[in-house]
Amino acid sequence: MNTAGTVGTVGPIAAEAARLFESAYGRTAGGVWAAPGRVNVIGEHTDYNEGFVLPMAIDRYTAVAAAPRTDGLLCVVSAAGDHRVTEIALSDLAPRVPHGWPAYPAGVAWALRGAGVLPSRFGGADLAFASTVPIGAGLSSSAALECSTGMALAAIADAEVRLSPAELARLSQYAENVYAGVPCGPLDQLSSVFGAEGGVLFIDTRSLEIAVHPFDLAVAELTLLVIDTGVSHDLGESGYPARRASCEKAAAVLGVQALRDLTTADLDRAAAQLDETTARRVRHVVTENERVERFVSLLKLGELTGPRLNAAGELLTASHASLRDDFEVSCDELDVVVDTALRAGAHGARMTGGGFGGSAIALVSLDRAERVTASVLDALPEAEIFQAVPARGAHRVA
Ligand code: GLA
Repeated sequence: MNTAGTVGTVGPIAAEAARLFESAYGRTAGGVWAAPGRVNVIGEHTDYNEGFVLPMAIDRYTAVAAAPRTDGLLCVVSAAGDHRVTEIALSDLAPRVPHGWPAYPAGVAWALRGAGVLPSRFGGADLAFASTVPIGAGLSSSAALECSTGMALAAIADAEVRLSPAELARLSQYAENVYAGVPCGPLDQLSSVFGAEGGVLFIDTRSLEIAVHPFDLAVAELTLLVIDTGVSHDLGESGYPARRASCEKAAAVLGVQALRDLTTADLDRAAAQLDETTARRVRHVVTENERVERFVSLLKLGELTGPRLNAAGELLTASHASLRDDFEVSCDELDVVVDTALRAGAHGARMTGGGFGGSAIALVSLDRAERVTASVLDALPEAEIFQAVPARGAHRVA
């Protein structure tokens, strides 16, 4: 499907995971858990700088049907692949074992064991996954995989009391950083765990305080289009680790704990002390943090209509320009869809997520959604477009 429309809910994909479980393992699952993907409304590449983000979970879920084993094996199978079961002995779990997607659930099992959430007598698990989160689209398919796994494993080990939602997010991020080797910040896992129906999450990634703000775009006759360019991004391989390293180096040179501690008043000093490229990276992070705070103050004033809507749209578009020109994580396809959406009447548009491919979002009046969709598909026929609404975070489905 590549036309604007409503997206599915968790029920059908949970049922698919349960069916896959039965055919792969020849028994019935003990339960089904699900965790969503996300779009980040604004606040990009700020999370590993201890700054602000404003994501929402979306109605696209990874579901996992699970049951315990007693022989010390972790078995995983996915509806997306060839339905072959991958077996990993719990005693063999070590960063990067195995390769490919099974490293994500394996990494979560490893992190949960290391943190003492799973008891040493934990005997393993059979897991079957099915998902509606597109892979490599910058919509956090890996966080959805990790967070659903963590919930399921804790539940089948009767260890839920030892896994608070904050710990689930933290250990999922830890698994991605250390086990899968992707140096992401906490944005995706916090979004997948704490997602709220009808709300965006204003997260201070330093204190990890989360405030939910109502984000019912339909009341203001608006919608948020997600435009997946189809250009697959891989954060482990892309410039993502390099961007993160240069931010950390800049913070050290400027004598602050993280770039979060700078304001626009520090930008001249940054330009004087850093090379030109690094100074632009810093400028992006500093101005992006300010854009998030301004966007949140607009939301606090009420529905996005009139001048508030214009201001919100301008902040989104300014975020894209900053990511394209200062942080240099956009790509031609993202720039084309953002420009096309704006020309077709979007109030604001930007890339979302890590960049180097993946998806863009466009804030659009409902009566313009079709026109924007058609124009974007004209410019990039391979794009997949859907309307996103803020959805519930990780939970048990059955
Ligand atoms: C990816 C990472 C996040 C965050 C974004 C950019 O999604 O996983 O931690 O850094 O990129 O905002």
